[in-house]
Amino acid sequence: MAIDYETHGWIWDGVYYYPHLFGGLMLTAALLGLSTSYFGGMGVFSLPYLRSDSGIFHKKKLEKKRRVRVYMDGCFDLMHYGHANALRQAKTLGDELVVGVVSDEEIIANKGPPVLSMEERLALVSGLKWVDEVIANAPYAITEQFMNRLFNEHKIDYIIHGDDPCLLPDGTDAYALAKQVGRYKQIKRTEGVSSTDIVGRILSSVKDTQGNEDNSGTSLSGDSHKAIQSKSSHVSQFLPTSRRIVQFSNCKGPGPNARIVYIDGAFDLFHAGHVEILKNARQLGDFLLVGVHTDQVVSEHRGNHYPIMHLHERSLSVLACRYVDEVIIGAPWEVTKDVITTFNISLVVHGTVAETNSSFTGETDPYAIPKSMGIFRLLESPKSITTTSVAQRIVANHEAYVKRNAKKAESEKKYYDQKTFVSGD
Ligand SMILES: *[C@@H]1O[C@H](CO)[C@@H](O)[C@H](O)[C@H]1NC(C)=O
Ligand SMILES: *[C@@H]1O[C@H](CO)[C@@H](O)[C@H](O)[C@H]1NC(C)=O
Repeated sequence: MAIDYETHGWIWDGVYYYPHLFGGLMLTAALLGLSTSYFGGMGVFSLPYLRSDSGIFHKKKLEKKRRVRVYMDGCFDLMHYGHANALRQAKTLGDELVVGVVSDEEIIANKGPPVLSMEERLALVSGLKWVDEVIANAPYAITEQFMNRLFNEHKIDYIIHGDDPCLLPDGTDAYALAKQVGRYKQIKRTEGVSSTDIVGRILSSVKDTQGNEDNSGTSLSGDSHKAIQSKSSHVSQFLPTSRRIVQFSNCKGPGPNARIVYIDGAFDLFHAGHVEILKNARQLGDFLLVGVHTDQVVSEHRGNHYPIMHLHERSLSVLACRYVDEVIIGAPWEVTKDVITTFNISLVVHGTVAETNSSFTGETDPYAIPKSMGIFRLLESPKSITTTSVAQRIVANHEAYVKRNAKKAESEKKYYDQKTFVSGD
């Protein structure tokens, strides 16, 4: 590639961002408000969402070397750390990662109704620390026309996909064109999680809740036995390793005199509301520490069928978020004096939209200590979406998802039955 172009990068907290193409800063500010009118057509957004007040900018000229740009697309419906890991791997194959988010219409045509809207899926993908740019409303299959747009307009060098075959309805390879021209690279599929699996977990947890209500006369031991059974029938296949955590981690502590902000929660079914509240929390200090509650704490406060994702899965989703600096894997329910001292926390925040409201349910206030110290702040939640509301959408579309899931679950079972060892990470 001989195309040299001058680029003016920005440094923000030591990270380079490239506000090129469509005057990224202006567009991203618009995206902050997430006005849906932007998503009618295909648009390009430079990331992250920066506002002029969100950090100190230093302008710096970069060397003229052309940077390798890679493209990966997906539906990113019910985003999970498997998606995040795929994009992390894609990023290692280039310098800049451009991600195409498939349009609602194309998902409906190819797979059935998406759980999350385009706006929510964009917010999720844009919130990932490995993503540099997002193309909204990408097509489901890469046509020759779209491929040429990627190469010529978006200056993409390589198209990336996982090693699981992606076939078009007519049985042909969706990436054949890119392979033909030698602009295709492959990454290893992330094992142990899929959107199908998550939908299955939600549907089975709902089924159990209804079952328990019907048999309200059964003994407590009977109910808990049932709950255990249902949990084991949808046990996650994910095997958490220390290496994966390191790959997702920033591996960096707070700098000297850093103002440390703490936010805690379940962060179950990581969604657009989580991204937004983490972003707002991060802006209140220099270092954002996130406490992810243990599975037991979440079950105690939300009911036996929660969390949908277990502690390690939830921690990885939080770690993948660009606004997060560090995670406590298994944080206590109450923000204790010890937690505050251990991490030198300056401010404890909590969103106004939350799954549980302790003053409402009459439980002890987990924020009593930071409140008494005068370091607690309630943060206006930018979105009303919650884990429960995401789960409810799936339940509302119950039949469509059961059908879609049965089909996908079958092909996934086949994959796991025939699975062989593949090296790579
Ligand atoms: C603890 O945090 C405060 C900011 O809130 C900072 O001024 C102080 O230097 C920090 N302490 C250490 C030892 O880093
Ligand atoms: C909890 O509920 C109370 C009473 O309904 C309300 O005043 C308060 O703002 C709520 N707090 C949060 C964090 O939602």
